Amino acid sequence: MAKKKTLFECQACGFQSPRWMGKCTSCNQWDTMVELTADQIRFLNETAKSATGIHSSKAKPITQVEEDNIVRFSSGSRELDLVLGGGIVPGSLTLIGGSPGIGKSTLLLKIAGNLAKQRQKVLYVSGEESSGQIKLRANRLDANDANLYLLSEISLNAVMAEINSTSYSFIVIDSIQTLYSDETPSAPGSVTQVRTITFELMRIAKSLHIPIFIIGHITKDGSIAGPRVLEHMVDTVLYFEGDSNSELRLLRGFKNRFGSTNEVGIFEMNRSGLNDAKSMAGRFFNKDKLQSGSALTVIMEGSRPIVIEVQALVAEAYGHPKRSSTGFDNNRLNMLLALLEKKLDLPLGTYDVFINISGGIKITEPAADLAVIAAILSSYRDRELSAETLFLGEVSLTGEIREVPGLSQRLKEMETQGFTKAVIPKKPLDETQIKCFVADEVSKVLEWM
Ligand SMILES: Nc1ncnc2c1ncn2[C@@H]1O[C@H](COP(=O)(O)OP(=O)(O)O)[C@@H](O)[C@H]1O
Ligand SMILES: [Mg+2]
Ligand SMILES: [Zn+2]
Repeated sequence: MAKKKTLFECQACGFQSPRWMGKCTSCNQWDTMVELTADQIRFLNETAKSATGIHSSKAKPITQVEEDNIVRFSSGSRELDLVLGGGIVPGSLTLIGGSPGIGKSTLLLKIAGNLAKQRQKVLYVSGEESSGQIKLRANRLDANDANLYLLSEISLNAVMAEINSTSYSFIVIDSIQTLYSDETPSAPGSVTQVRTITFELMRIAKSLHIPIFIIGHITKDGSIAGPRVLEHMVDTVLYFEGDSNSELRLLRGFKNRFGSTNEVGIFEMNRSGLNDAKSMAGRFFNKDKLQSGSALTVIMEGSRPIVIEVQALVAEAYGHPKRSSTGFDNNRLNMLLALLEKKLDLPLGTYDVFINISGGIKITEPAADLAVIAAILSSYRDRELSAETLFLGEVSLTGEIREVPGLSQRLKEMETQGFTKAVIPKKPLDETQIKCFVADEVSKVLEWM
Protein backbone atom coordinates (compact mmCIF):
# COMPACT_ATOMS: atom_id res chain seq x y z
CA MET A 1 0.00 0.00 0.00
CA ALA A 2 1.33 3.42 -0.90
CA LYS A 3 2.25 5.60 2.03
CA LYS A 4 -0.22 8.41 2.63
CA LYS A 5 1.26 11.68 1.50
CA THR A 6 1.10 14.43 4.09
CA LEU A 7 1.53 18.08 3.35
CA PHE A 8 1.43 21.11 5.61
CA GLU A 9 0.87 24.64 4.39
CA CYS A 10 1.48 28.01 6.01
CA GLN A 11 -1.78 29.95 6.01
CA ALA A 12 0.05 33.25 6.02
CA CYS A 13 2.47 32.86 3.12
CA GLY A 14 1.69 29.59 1.36
CA PHE A 15 4.96 27.84 2.18
CA GLN A 16 4.57 24.05 2.04
CA SER A 17 6.41 21.36 3.94
CA PRO A 18 6.01 17.59 4.40
CA ARG A 19 6.62 18.11 8.12
CA TRP A 20 4.68 20.13 10.63
CA MET A 21 6.53 23.11 12.13
CA GLY A 22 5.59 25.42 14.98
CA LYS A 23 7.12 28.36 13.16
CA CYS A 24 7.04 28.82 9.40
CA THR A 25 10.62 28.89 8.09
CA SER A 26 9.58 31.11 5.21
CA CYS A 27 7.69 33.96 6.89
CA ASN A 28 8.65 33.27 10.54
CA GLN A 29 5.07 33.31 11.81
CA TRP A 30 3.98 30.94 14.56
CA ASP A 31 1.17 28.39 14.44
CA THR A 32 0.32 28.97 10.81
CA MET A 33 1.05 25.46 9.46
CA VAL A 34 -2.10 23.50 8.69
CA GLU A 35 -2.26 19.95 7.37
CA LEU A 36 -3.95 19.69 3.98
CA THR A 37 -6.58 17.03 3.38
CA ALA A 38 -6.28 14.49 0.57
CA ASP A 39 -8.88 16.52 -1.35
CA GLN A 40 -6.92 19.69 -0.97
CA ILE A 41 -3.72 18.00 -2.18
CA ARG A 42 -5.56 16.72 -5.24
CA PHE A 43 -6.92 20.23 -5.82
CA LEU A 44 -3.40 21.61 -5.52
CA ASN A 45 -2.11 19.29 -8.24
CA GLU A 46 -5.02 20.24 -10.46
CA THR A 47 -4.29 23.94 -9.90
CA ALA A 48 -0.62 23.52 -10.71
CA LYS A 49 -1.50 21.76 -13.94
CA SER A 50 -3.98 24.30 -15.16
CA ALA A 51 -1.72 27.19 -14.16
CA THR A 52 1.08 25.93 -16.36
CA GLY A 53 -1.32 24.80 -19.08
CA ILE A 54 0.11 21.26 -19.04
CA HIS A 55 -2.10 18.55 -20.44
CA SER A 56 -1.11 15.38 -22.19
CA SER A 57 -0.68 16.03 -25.89
CA LYS A 58 1.91 15.37 -28.53
CA ALA A 59 4.61 17.78 -29.59
CA LYS A 60 4.10 19.43 -32.99
CA PRO A 61 6.50 21.18 -35.36
CA ILE A 62 6.25 24.92 -34.67
CA THR A 63 5.36 25.50 -38.32
CA GLN A 64 2.12 23.57 -37.81
CA VAL A 65 1.12 25.37 -34.65
CA GLU A 66 -1.53 28.02 -34.97
CA GLU A 67 -0.77 31.16 -33.04
CA ASP A 68 -3.20 32.35 -30.42
CA ASN A 69 -5.25 35.18 -31.74
CA ILE A 70 -5.54 37.63 -28.87
CA VAL A 71 -8.36 40.08 -29.43
CA ARG A 72 -8.39 42.82 -26.84
CA PHE A 73 -10.96 45.42 -26.03
CA SER A 74 -10.44 48.82 -24.48
CA SER A 75 -11.20 49.41 -20.82
CA GLY A 76 -12.07 52.99 -21.61
CA SER A 77 -8.95 54.12 -19.76
CA ARG A 78 -5.86 54.85 -21.83
CA GLU A 79 -3.55 54.23 -18.88
CA LEU A 80 -5.07 50.90 -17.85
CA ASP A 81 -5.02 49.72 -21.47
CA LEU A 82 -1.33 50.62 -21.61
CA VAL A 83 -0.32 48.54 -18.55
CA LEU A 84 -2.45 45.65 -19.72
CA GLY A 85 -0.51 45.62 -22.98
CA GLY A 86 -3.18 47.14 -25.22
CA GLY A 87 -6.49 46.41 -23.52
CA ILE A 88 -8.47 43.70 -21.76
CA VAL A 89 -8.07 40.11 -22.96
CA PRO A 90 -11.30 38.04 -22.82
CA GLY A 91 -11.01 35.05 -20.49
CA SER A 92 -8.06 36.53 -18.62
CA LEU A 93 -7.70 36.74 -14.87
CA THR A 94 -6.07 39.94 -13.58
CA LEU A 95 -5.00 40.78 -10.05
CA ILE A 96 -4.92 44.42 -9.00
CA GLY A 97 -3.14 44.88 -5.69
CA GLY A 98 -2.36 47.84 -3.50
CA SER A 99 -2.59 49.22 -0.01
CA PRO A 100 -5.98 50.17 1.43
CA GLY A 101 -7.28 53.53 0.20
CA ILE A 102 -5.00 53.75 -2.82
CA GLY A 103 -7.89 53.58 -5.27
CA LYS A 104 -8.43 49.97 -6.35
CA SER A 105 -12.21 50.02 -5.95
CA THR A 106 -12.42 53.50 -7.44
CA LEU A 107 -10.54 52.50 -10.58
CA LEU A 108 -12.38 49.25 -11.19
CA LEU A 109 -15.82 50.70 -10.54
CA LYS A 110 -15.03 53.39 -13.10
CA ILE A 111 -13.85 50.77 -15.63
CA ALA A 112 -17.00 48.73 -14.89
CA GLY A 113 -19.05 51.86 -15.62
CA ASN A 114 -17.11 52.57 -18.84
CA LEU A 115 -17.83 49.09 -20.15
CA ALA A 116 -21.47 49.13 -19.04
CA LYS A 117 -21.95 52.32 -21.01
CA GLN A 118 -20.67 50.49 -24.08
CA ARG A 119 -23.56 48.06 -23.60
CA GLN A 120 -21.52 45.33 -22.01
CA LYS A 121 -23.12 43.56 -19.10
CA VAL A 122 -20.86 44.01 -16.09
CA LEU A 123 -20.92 42.41 -12.64
CA TYR A 124 -19.28 44.16 -9.69
CA VAL A 125 -19.04 41.86 -6.68
CA SER A 126 -18.22 43.50 -3.37
CA GLY A 127 -17.62 41.73 -0.10
CA GLU A 128 -16.55 44.97 1.50
CA GLU A 129 -19.29 47.47 0.85
CA SER A 130 -23.07 47.40 0.51
CA SER A 131 -24.62 48.00 -2.89
CA GLY A 132 -25.91 51.33 -1.56
CA GLN A 133 -22.39 52.48 -0.73
CA ILE A 134 -21.11 51.42 -4.11
CA LYS A 135 -23.97 53.27 -5.77
CA LEU A 136 -22.90 56.46 -3.96
CA ARG A 137 -19.40 56.07 -5.31
CA ALA A 138 -20.72 55.27 -8.79
CA ASN A 139 -22.67 58.54 -8.73
CA ARG A 140 -19.50 60.44 -7.96
CA LEU A 141 -17.52 58.60 -10.64
CA ASP A 142 -20.28 58.92 -13.23
CA ALA A 143 -20.34 55.14 -13.55
CA ASN A 144 -24.10 54.65 -13.31
CA ASP A 145 -25.56 52.54 -16.06
CA ALA A 146 -28.31 49.94 -16.22
CA ASN A 147 -25.82 47.41 -17.55
CA LEU A 148 -23.75 47.56 -14.36
CA TYR A 149 -24.92 44.96 -11.84
CA LEU A 150 -23.92 45.10 -8.19
CA LEU A 151 -23.70 42.07 -5.92
CA SER A 152 -22.84 42.49 -2.28
CA GLU A 153 -21.75 39.00 -1.33
CA ILE A 154 -18.98 37.06 0.41
CA SER A 155 -19.98 33.50 -0.44
CA LEU A 156 -18.16 32.11 -3.46
CA ASN A 157 -21.05 29.75 -4.19
CA ALA A 158 -23.48 32.64 -4.44
CA VAL A 159 -21.10 34.57 -6.69
CA MET A 160 -20.65 31.53 -8.95
CA ALA A 161 -24.40 31.03 -9.16
CA GLU A 162 -24.83 34.66 -10.23
CA ILE A 163 -22.07 34.41 -12.85
CA ASN A 164 -23.60 31.23 -14.25
CA SER A 165 -27.12 32.64 -14.33
CA THR A 166 -26.48 35.62 -16.60
CA SER A 167 -24.06 36.22 -19.42
CA TYR A 168 -21.71 38.91 -18.15
CA SER A 169 -18.89 40.21 -20.26
CA PHE A 170 -16.78 41.70 -17.46
CA ILE A 171 -16.51 40.86 -13.75
CA VAL A 172 -14.84 42.60 -10.81
CA ILE A 173 -14.22 40.84 -7.49
CA ASP A 174 -13.69 43.31 -4.64
CA SER A 175 -11.81 41.77 -2.86
CA ILE A 176 -10.29 38.29 -2.92
CA GLN A 177 -9.69 38.50 0.84
CA THR A 178 -13.38 38.90 1.64
CA LEU A 179 -14.71 35.98 -0.42
CA TYR A 180 -15.35 32.70 1.30
CA SER A 181 -15.64 29.18 -0.02
CA ASP A 182 -17.52 26.53 2.00
CA GLU A 183 -15.23 23.88 0.55
CA THR A 184 -12.37 24.78 2.86
CA PRO A 185 -12.64 25.29 6.59
CA SER A 186 -9.99 28.00 6.88
CA ALA A 187 -10.75 31.69 7.33
CA PRO A 188 -11.38 34.19 4.50
CA GLY A 189 -8.09 35.63 3.31
CA SER A 190 -6.06 32.54 4.26
CA VAL A 191 -3.87 30.88 1.68
CA THR A 192 -6.14 27.89 1.22
CA GLN A 193 -9.20 30.11 0.75
CA VAL A 194 -7.45 32.46 -1.63
CA ARG A 195 -6.21 29.58 -3.74
CA THR A 196 -9.53 27.78 -3.89
CA ILE A 197 -11.35 30.96 -4.88
CA THR A 198 -8.77 32.05 -7.42
CA PHE A 199 -8.84 28.61 -8.98
CA GLU A 200 -12.62 28.67 -9.28
CA LEU A 201 -12.53 32.17 -10.76
CA MET A 202 -9.88 31.13 -13.24
CA ARG A 203 -11.90 28.11 -14.26
CA ILE A 204 -14.98 30.20 -14.90
CA ALA A 205 -13.05 32.97 -16.66
CA LYS A 206 -11.52 30.45 -19.07
CA SER A 207 -14.64 28.38 -19.63
CA LEU A 208 -17.03 31.31 -20.15
CA HIS A 209 -14.36 33.46 -21.79
CA ILE A 210 -15.03 36.38 -19.42
CA PRO A 211 -12.27 38.69 -18.20
CA ILE A 212 -12.24 38.82 -14.39
CA PHE A 213 -10.42 41.45 -12.34
CA ILE A 214 -9.60 40.53 -8.75
CA ILE A 215 -8.76 43.18 -6.17
CA GLY A 216 -6.24 42.18 -3.50
CA HIS A 217 -5.20 44.14 -0.43
CA ILE A 218 -1.58 44.29 0.44
CA THR A 219 -0.87 43.47 4.05
CA LYS A 220 1.47 45.42 6.34
CA ASP A 221 4.57 43.54 5.22
CA GLY A 222 3.85 44.49 1.63
CA SER A 223 2.48 41.22 0.37
CA ILE A 224 -0.94 40.01 -0.65
CA ALA A 225 -2.13 37.11 1.49
CA GLY A 226 -0.64 34.04 -0.10
CA PRO A 227 1.19 36.09 -2.71
CA ARG A 228 2.88 33.19 -4.42
CA VAL A 229 -0.38 31.34 -4.70
CA LEU A 230 -2.23 34.23 -6.30
CA GLU A 231 0.52 35.61 -8.50
CA HIS A 232 1.29 32.22 -9.98
CA MET A 233 -2.30 31.44 -10.80
CA VAL A 234 -3.49 34.61 -12.48
CA ASP A 235 -2.57 35.81 -15.97
CA THR A 236 -1.72 39.38 -15.06
CA VAL A 237 -0.54 41.05 -11.87
CA LEU A 238 -0.70 44.83 -11.44
CA TYR A 239 0.25 46.73 -8.30
CA PHE A 240 -0.57 50.29 -7.32
CA GLU A 241 2.25 52.51 -6.11
CA GLY A 242 2.29 56.07 -4.89
CA ASP A 243 2.08 57.87 -1.61
CA SER A 244 -1.23 58.91 -0.17
CA ASN A 245 -0.11 62.55 0.09
CA SER A 246 0.18 62.93 -3.63
CA GLU A 247 -2.77 62.65 -5.96
CA LEU A 248 -0.74 60.59 -8.43
CA ARG A 249 -1.03 56.83 -8.51
CA LEU A 250 1.14 54.48 -10.52
CA LEU A 251 -0.11 51.10 -11.68
CA ARG A 252 2.82 48.84 -12.47
CA GLY A 253 2.75 45.48 -14.25
CA PHE A 254 4.59 42.63 -12.51
CA LYS A 255 3.41 39.75 -14.62
CA ASN A 256 1.57 39.62 -17.92
CA ARG A 257 0.92 36.49 -19.91
CA PHE A 258 -0.37 38.62 -22.77
CA GLY A 259 2.11 41.45 -22.97
CA SER A 260 5.15 43.15 -21.56
CA THR A 261 5.46 44.35 -18.00
CA ASN A 262 7.41 47.44 -18.99
CA GLU A 263 4.66 49.99 -18.96
CA VAL A 264 3.32 51.91 -16.02
CA GLY A 265 -0.14 53.44 -15.88
CA ILE A 266 -0.30 56.88 -14.34
CA PHE A 267 -3.52 58.11 -12.78
CA GLU A 268 -4.56 61.05 -10.71
CA MET A 269 -7.05 60.93 -7.88
CA ASN A 270 -9.62 63.68 -7.70
CA ARG A 271 -13.27 64.04 -6.77
CA SER A 272 -14.49 62.39 -9.93
CA GLY A 273 -12.28 59.37 -9.31
CA LEU A 274 -9.02 57.99 -10.51
CA ASN A 275 -8.53 59.40 -13.98
CA ASP A 276 -5.79 59.04 -16.59
CA ALA A 277 -3.14 61.58 -15.67
CA LYS A 278 -2.91 64.31 -18.25
CA SER A 279 0.67 65.46 -18.33
CA MET A 280 3.63 64.39 -16.25
CA ALA A 281 5.45 67.66 -16.88
CA GLY A 282 6.36 69.40 -13.64
CA ARG A 283 4.45 66.95 -11.47
CA PHE A 284 7.34 65.50 -9.53
CA PHE A 285 9.45 68.54 -8.70
CA ASN A 286 9.27 72.20 -7.89
CA LYS A 287 11.65 74.14 -10.07
CA ASP A 288 11.22 77.43 -8.23
CA LYS A 289 12.00 75.96 -4.86
CA LEU A 290 15.03 73.76 -5.46
CA GLN A 291 16.97 73.67 -2.22
CA SER A 292 20.31 72.21 -1.27
CA GLY A 293 20.07 68.44 -1.31
CA SER A 294 17.80 68.32 -4.36
CA ALA A 295 18.89 67.14 -7.79
CA LEU A 296 16.78 66.61 -10.89
CA THR A 297 16.93 63.72 -13.31
CA VAL A 298 14.81 62.03 -15.99
CA ILE A 299 13.70 58.47 -15.41
CA MET A 300 12.00 56.21 -17.91
CA GLU A 301 8.72 54.72 -16.77
CA GLY A 302 8.10 52.22 -19.50
CA SER A 303 8.27 54.20 -22.71
CA ARG A 304 7.75 57.53 -20.96
CA PRO A 305 10.38 59.93 -19.71
CA ILE A 306 9.51 61.70 -16.42
CA VAL A 307 11.50 64.47 -14.75
CA ILE A 308 11.79 63.80 -11.02
CA GLU A 309 13.52 65.24 -8.00
CA VAL A 310 15.95 63.26 -5.85
CA GLN A 311 16.26 64.61 -2.32
CA ALA A 312 19.16 63.89 0.01
CA LEU A 313 19.76 64.86 3.60
CA VAL A 314 23.30 64.49 4.88
CA ALA A 315 23.67 65.34 8.55
CA GLU A 316 26.33 64.70 11.16
CA ALA A 317 25.62 61.43 12.91
CA TYR A 318 25.29 61.02 16.64
CA GLY A 319 26.18 57.42 17.25
CA HIS A 320 25.92 54.81 14.55
CA PRO A 321 25.36 56.53 11.17
CA LYS A 322 21.96 55.86 9.60
CA ARG A 323 21.32 55.25 5.93
CA SER A 324 17.81 55.08 4.68
CA SER A 325 16.07 55.61 1.39
CA THR A 326 12.52 55.83 0.14
CA GLY A 327 12.03 55.06 -3.52
CA PHE A 328 15.68 54.16 -4.08
CA ASP A 329 17.48 50.89 -3.43
CA ASN A 330 19.23 50.94 -0.05
CA ASN A 331 22.10 48.68 -1.14
CA ARG A 332 22.75 50.91 -4.09
CA LEU A 333 22.81 53.94 -1.78
CA ASN A 334 25.42 52.21 0.39
CA MET A 335 27.51 51.45 -2.68
CA LEU A 336 27.35 55.08 -3.86
CA LEU A 337 28.31 56.34 -0.41
CA ALA A 338 31.29 53.99 -0.21
CA LEU A 339 32.37 55.21 -3.62
CA LEU A 340 32.11 58.88 -2.64
CA GLU A 341 34.12 58.16 0.45
CA LYS A 342 36.84 56.41 -1.49
CA LYS A 343 37.02 58.58 -4.61
CA LEU A 344 36.31 62.01 -3.19
CA ASP A 345 37.70 61.47 0.28
CA LEU A 346 34.47 62.57 1.92
CA PRO A 347 34.09 61.51 5.59
CA LEU A 348 30.55 60.20 4.99
CA GLY A 349 31.08 57.42 7.52
CA THR A 350 30.30 59.91 10.26
CA TYR A 351 27.14 61.24 8.63
CA ASP A 352 23.53 60.11 8.46
CA VAL A 353 22.29 59.95 4.89
CA PHE A 354 18.64 59.91 3.86
CA ILE A 355 17.34 59.72 0.30
CA ASN A 356 13.80 60.40 -0.83
CA ILE A 357 12.29 60.34 -4.29
CA SER A 358 9.47 62.84 -4.65
CA GLY A 359 5.89 61.86 -5.46
CA GLY A 360 6.11 58.27 -4.20
CA ILE A 361 8.05 57.20 -7.29
CA LYS A 362 10.23 54.11 -6.97
CA ILE A 363 13.37 54.26 -9.05
CA THR A 364 14.03 50.95 -10.72
CA GLU A 365 16.89 51.87 -13.05
CA PRO A 366 20.49 52.84 -12.36
CA ALA A 367 20.29 55.93 -14.60
CA ALA A 368 19.44 58.03 -11.55
CA ASP A 369 22.72 57.19 -9.74
CA LEU A 370 24.37 60.42 -10.80
CA ALA A 371 21.44 62.49 -9.55
CA VAL A 372 21.60 60.68 -6.20
CA ILE A 373 25.30 61.52 -5.94
CA ALA A 374 24.66 65.14 -6.93
CA ALA A 375 21.91 65.41 -4.29
CA ILE A 376 24.19 63.94 -1.61
CA LEU A 377 27.03 66.31 -2.51
CA SER A 378 24.66 69.25 -2.60
CA SER A 379 23.34 68.48 0.88
CA TYR A 380 26.79 67.74 2.26
CA ARG A 381 28.14 71.08 1.04
CA ASP A 382 24.85 72.84 1.72
CA ARG A 383 24.93 74.38 -1.70
CA GLU A 384 21.94 74.32 -3.98
CA LEU A 385 22.15 73.04 -7.53
CA SER A 386 20.97 74.91 -10.59
CA ALA A 387 17.29 74.29 -11.26
CA GLU A 388 18.17 74.30 -14.97
CA THR A 389 20.43 71.26 -14.79
CA LEU A 390 19.59 67.57 -14.89
CA PHE A 391 21.87 64.69 -13.95
CA LEU A 392 21.93 61.42 -15.86
CA GLY A 393 24.24 58.44 -15.55
CA GLU A 394 24.81 55.02 -14.06
CA VAL A 395 27.70 54.82 -11.61
CA SER A 396 29.88 51.70 -11.67
CA LEU A 397 31.78 50.20 -8.74
CA THR A 398 34.99 51.71 -10.06
CA GLY A 399 33.54 55.21 -10.04
CA GLU A 400 33.12 55.37 -13.78
CA ILE A 401 29.89 56.95 -15.02
CA ARG A 402 28.16 55.01 -17.76
CA GLU A 403 25.69 55.95 -20.44
CA VAL A 404 21.99 55.43 -19.93
CA PRO A 405 19.51 53.90 -22.38
CA GLY A 406 17.02 56.17 -24.13
CA LEU A 407 19.22 59.26 -23.85
CA SER A 408 17.68 61.09 -26.80
CA GLN A 409 14.16 60.59 -25.45
CA ARG A 410 15.23 61.89 -22.08
CA LEU A 411 16.94 64.92 -23.58
CA LYS A 412 13.88 65.67 -25.66
CA GLU A 413 11.70 65.62 -22.56
CA MET A 414 14.11 68.05 -20.85
CA GLU A 415 13.84 70.37 -23.83
CA THR A 416 10.07 70.20 -23.81
CA GLN A 417 10.03 71.13 -20.15
CA GLY A 418 12.40 74.04 -20.66
CA PHE A 419 15.57 72.74 -19.04
CA THR A 420 18.80 73.99 -20.54
CA LYS A 421 21.67 71.94 -19.12
CA ALA A 422 22.53 68.33 -18.45
CA VAL A 423 25.44 66.55 -16.83
CA ILE A 424 25.90 63.24 -18.65
CA PRO A 425 28.72 60.71 -19.17
CA LYS A 426 29.12 61.24 -22.93
CA LYS A 427 28.16 63.83 -25.52
CA PRO A 428 24.93 62.75 -27.25
CA LEU A 429 25.06 61.81 -30.92
CA ASP A 430 21.72 63.42 -31.68
CA GLU A 431 21.40 67.13 -31.95
CA THR A 432 19.92 68.82 -28.92
CA GLN A 433 19.24 72.28 -27.56
CA ILE A 434 20.43 71.12 -24.15
CA LYS A 435 23.90 72.21 -23.18
CA CYS A 436 25.65 68.98 -22.21
CA PHE A 437 28.51 68.76 -19.72
CA VAL A 438 30.48 65.56 -19.70
CA ALA A 439 31.26 63.82 -16.44
CA ASP A 440 32.49 60.28 -17.01
CA GLU A 441 33.90 59.79 -13.53
CA VAL A 442 32.50 60.48 -10.09
CA SER A 443 35.37 62.87 -9.33
CA LYS A 444 34.35 65.07 -12.27
CA VAL A 445 30.85 65.70 -11.00
CA LEU A 446 32.11 68.34 -8.61
CA GLU A 447 33.28 70.49 -11.52
CA TRP A 448 29.69 71.00 -12.61
CA MET A 449 28.13 71.66 -9.25
N1 LIG B 1 -16.14 61.60 -1.68
C1 LIG B 1 -14.87 61.54 -2.05
N2 LIG B 1 -14.29 62.54 -2.72
C2 LIG B 1 -13.02 62.47 -3.12
N3 LIG B 1 -12.23 61.44 -2.90
C3 LIG B 1 -12.73 60.40 -2.23
C4 LIG B 1 -14.05 60.37 -1.78
N4 LIG B 1 -14.25 59.19 -1.17
C5 LIG B 1 -13.09 58.53 -1.24
N5 LIG B 1 -12.16 59.24 -1.89
C6 LIG B 1 -10.78 58.87 -2.17
O1 LIG B 1 -10.73 57.58 -2.66
C7 LIG B 1 -9.80 56.82 -1.90
C8 LIG B 1 -10.35 55.47 -1.62
O2 LIG B 1 -10.22 54.74 -2.73
P1 LIG B 1 -10.71 53.23 -2.81
O3 LIG B 1 -10.93 53.01 -4.25
O4 LIG B 1 -11.83 52.99 -1.89
O5 LIG B 1 -9.41 52.48 -2.28
P2 LIG B 1 -9.16 50.93 -2.18
O6 LIG B 1 -10.28 50.22 -2.83
O7 LIG B 1 -7.83 50.75 -2.87
O8 LIG B 1 -9.03 50.64 -0.71
C9 LIG B 1 -9.56 57.52 -0.62
O9 LIG B 1 -8.20 57.46 -0.28
C10 LIG B 1 -9.98 58.91 -0.91
O10 LIG B 1 -8.82 59.69 -1.15
MG1 LIG C 1 -11.79 49.08 -1.89
ZN1 LIG D 1 4.73 31.29 6.26
